[in-house]
Amino acid sequence: MTKKIVLTGDRPTGKLHLGHYVGSLKNRVEMQNTGQYDMYVFIADTQALTDNAKNPKKIVDNVIEVAIDNLSVGIDPNKTTYFIQSDVPQLTELNMYYLNLVNLGRLKRNPTIKEEIKQRGFGLSIPVGFLTYPISQAADITAFDANLVPVGEDQIPILEQVCEIVNTFNKTYGETLVMPQYIIPDSKGARRLPGTDGKQKMSKSAGNCIYLSDDTETVTRKVMSMYTDPNHIKIEDPGQTEGNPVFIYLDALCKDREKYLELKEHYEKGGLGDVTVKKYLIEVIEEILKPIREKRKYYENHKEEVYEILNRGGEKAREKASQTLNRVKNNMGINYFK
Ligand code: TRP
Repeated sequence: MTKKIVLTGDRPTGKLHLGHYVGSLKNRVEMQNTGQYDMYVFIADTQALTDNAKNPKKIVDNVIEVAIDNLSVGIDPNKTTYFIQSDVPQLTELNMYYLNLVNLGRLKRNPTIKEEIKQRGFGLSIPVGFLTYPISQAADITAFDANLVPVGEDQIPILEQVCEIVNTFNKTYGETLVMPQYIIPDSKGARRLPGTDGKQKMSKSAGNCIYLSDDTETVTRKVMSMYTDPNHIKIEDPGQTEGNPVFIYLDALCKDREKYLELKEHYEKGGLGDVTVKKYLIEVIEEILKPIREKRKYYENHKEEVYEILNRGGEKAREKASQTLNRVKNNMGINYFK
């Protein structure tokens, strides 16, 4: 039986945090370790440049950060093809052909793009490359014949647009591209881990993240100052766990489900203090981060090895992507000299 192909990527715009861990990293490493899939993971530097063109250094610096994050969590280059997007020129070439299959109105209606334009305050000064990133994402996905694409919830509209492009291409030029399917995490906390301040989402600009690279002291400080239930004043008071980030984190991270449910019940009933729960949360986070930190130390001292991994991954990725590009050009009738 041929293995299903799984592909996913990260934009290198910052170090990865616990939200990335529960939302995607953990899952991709688990999928990798089943041995049931043919895995491709990449660093989406080309995509990150679409809204950082004037500051490429930020992206370049974060390529190595994101690579070390992934390798430290458990991405194994012997099991997964790990590469950098810009190292595979076939993606750019595919993008060019797909650009002609999408109209401007449809792009502008994409809810994710709309939201991102708003967040960045672009208005009409939006870079064209940014507006069209769902199209380049179709190239990323189809180049590897990906069947399954694990992504965050916010990426669903992008993936829907990718499917439309696949459909249009296949209708226009004949069956060529593989129709992908997205996978999102099943628990609510994993789909969107709130910030330590209780705001909707961890984000660098809000300063409410716990990074995979944080040390014990930083984790302790951040958890101890976390937002909880503001009406839980005395220990005896009944507390709210719903919407309480400390409990959302425990729900998403704690392997001992019994213990989690016990704490939740006790807190809701009253008699359980925030400090006790936070201390337990620190234990849970530390248990996850300890092995990650150890591997990180190694890779930080062997960055040349990290680049070598990515370099070799790029070679394999180009091989696969050029097969797809060939198929695409054949079916479009523009393979003049074959
Ligand atoms: N847009 C994705 C994000 O911001 C990153 C990405 C780029 C991606 N190309 C992809 C994810 C292809 C999955 C498949 O997280």
